[in-house]
Amino acid sequence: MAHVARDDRPTDKAERYQEVSEEIRAVLLGEPSRIARMATVASMLADAFAAFIWTGFYLVDPDKPGELVVGPYQGKLGCLRIPFGRGVCGRAAEQRQTQVIADVHAFEGHIACDSRSNSEIVVPVTDIRGDLIGVLDIDSADFGTFDGVDAQALERLISEIFAEA
Ligand code: SME
Repeated sequence: MAHVARDDRPTDKAERYQEVSEEIRAVLLGEPSRIARMATVASMLADAFAAFIWTGFYLVDPDKPGELVVGPYQGKLGCLRIPFGRGVCGRAAEQRQTQVIADVHAFEGHIACDSRSNSEIVVPVTDIRGDLIGVLDIDSADFGTFDGVDAQALERLISEIFAEA
């Protein structure tokens, strides 16, 4: 099981997201690089939640429309490419809607990159014009890790970091 670097984080999930989101925004103040932003979000979220075993981005490949290619992430090796519509990430990209999956084994078409993964959330990432950049994918070692609190906090963070920058 992963561990968090700090043990003084709020136990309340919404408060923990708020705290780490403020830290992420502070670190990224004035940093325009999208890759630096993604790498920082992945690192700091993974560090704040012990259950997150894979935290990172799949990006729309400009050279291959309809396909996602892996971007900055924290975790074990993930698959490199995911076509739109395939797996949880592909569905989030295709529908442009956050996907909250309580049990990945019950999701038809789930792409198992890490056998320790039991639940997952995928949030679409759009730029300031509203164009899809990719998705943020988080896998958890526990079942039912994610709910509306995670969806709301992550959608807000993603919007602040990628659509309002
Ligand atoms: N489980 C994802 C694939 C990516 S990895 O878990 C890193 C999916 O079904 O889209």
